[in-house]
Amino acid sequence: MRSAPFTLLLSAFLFAAGCSDSGDGNGDETTGSGSATGGTGGGTTSASSGATSGSGGDATSASSGATSGSGGDATSASSGATSGSGGATSASSGAGGEGAGGSDGAGGGASARVPAASASTLREAGEKANPPILIGAAISGGGLGNNDYKRVAAAEHSYVTAENEMKWDSLEPSAGNFSWGSADNIVNWARQNNMKVKGHTLVWHNQLPGWMSSMTGKDNVTAAMRRHITQVMGHFKDRVDTWDVVNEAVQTDSDTGVGNPRMRPSVFLNQIGENYIDLAFQIAREQDPKAKLYYNDYSIDARNAKVDFVYNMVKGMVDRGVPIDGVGFQMHIGPPNNEATGADVAANLKRFTDLGLEVLISEMDINRCGGVVTAEEQLAYYHDIVEACFKLPKCTGITFWGINDGRSWLNSWSGALCNGQSSQSLLFNDQYGKKETYNRVMNALLGK
Ligand code: G3I
Repeated sequence: MRSAPFTLLLSAFLFAAGCSDSGDGNGDETTGSGSATGGTGGGTTSASSGATSGSGGDATSASSGATSGSGGDATSASSGATSGSGGATSASSGAGGEGAGGSDGAGGGASARVPAASASTLREAGEKANPPILIGAAISGGGLGNNDYKRVAAAEHSYVTAENEMKWDSLEPSAGNFSWGSADNIVNWARQNNMKVKGHTLVWHNQLPGWMSSMTGKDNVTAAMRRHITQVMGHFKDRVDTWDVVNEAVQTDSDTGVGNPRMRPSVFLNQIGENYIDLAFQIAREQDPKAKLYYNDYSIDARNAKVDFVYNMVKGMVDRGVPIDGVGFQMHIGPPNNEATGADVAANLKRFTDLGLEVLISEMDINRCGGVVTAEEQLAYYHDIVEACFKLPKCTGITFWGINDGRSWLNSWSGALCNGQSSQSLLFNDQYGKKETYNRVMNALLGK
């Protein structure tokens, strides 16, 4: 295995060589919104000790990595305790994170998840585990036009995230006019196959339509955000019980999560201030008292500057009583995102569950990047990281970011970075056959 310093050096080299996009390794270059907000490299960050400054506009500054007060029209809500039972976990979380202050009193003495004795699909392995764990995939409207894709997706998974169809530019392409068709197709297909759905994503700087990303004025942006959250959650109520409420609100100089962590400039940060995050969760809670509300981000999978910043941000939310239920760790592993061993991931997930939160692996893939990550390294990552989540009862699901290699987003996004080589990043090959990566994931789900 390559060492972490090697990885960081590689990433630094790739950045220096200008091979990356501007500050967000996850596709910002494709924003499609006139005034792209993401990753302009520096903004006007100030920096000391994890504190952030805003960017242009009327950004609020802030202290100690946390967002400031909870002003506005907030309903404060349920002090971090998660309610309902929509998710897959049923029990056995020992001292369990409910109740006062939302922390695991015993320091996380939760008992381990018990694997199934046997299973013939990943879905079955997840459903037979105790407590059960959701096995998910990002599903695209295009994919559902292919019978092999549909067959594998439904047989092997119990959980669906729309890859693009529930993002702002898809659902609200012009102000106040909502377009539900492509998202409804995915949600209805999932329900026909007894799969749960996570809504992705309500508030994100990327894939925003131009009319929204160029909006000015705190009141205007707040009203538009409120309308979007309210309409979207209302439309999918009783069909979608978990939401990525805010996505990728933190950035660093490097896509690996290293260097100058700060709040990411966006129309929301620039016009509303850091309080937009609290506000988005509060609006979402008003709309659905039982939904699971998540913060989701990339390169926060193991210990680095970015995840320390996110930890402080989320801890501040829990302390203030902002209604957050969990954190999604995207787990895009491999260049130019972070690389994380199973042990690193386990320790990192644990400290978030110690806050009383659920955790979720939300977008997993492992980019071989034309051989930069060897086949053996990729297999070890898949096994060990899935095992880390599986062993933690409050890790409620593992979603892979696609079904088969040929359709992975990495093939177009990272083509230049990886010398045009295929990412070979998922569990099924171009013919929808199971790869060795599939076998390693299955082993981890069966406790092997
Ligand atoms: O639909 C248009 C099509 O009409 C047009 O001809 C074509 C030309 O490029 O573009 C198509 O849209 C593309 C869209 O995917 C659907 O394929 C966009 O250009 C492309 O930018 C978009 O990429 C998506 C990316 O998010 C955008 O940020 C990826 O599919 C999607 O996998 C990726 O997912 C994100 C998560 O939402 C958040 N975390 C990171 C993750 C990976 O970047």
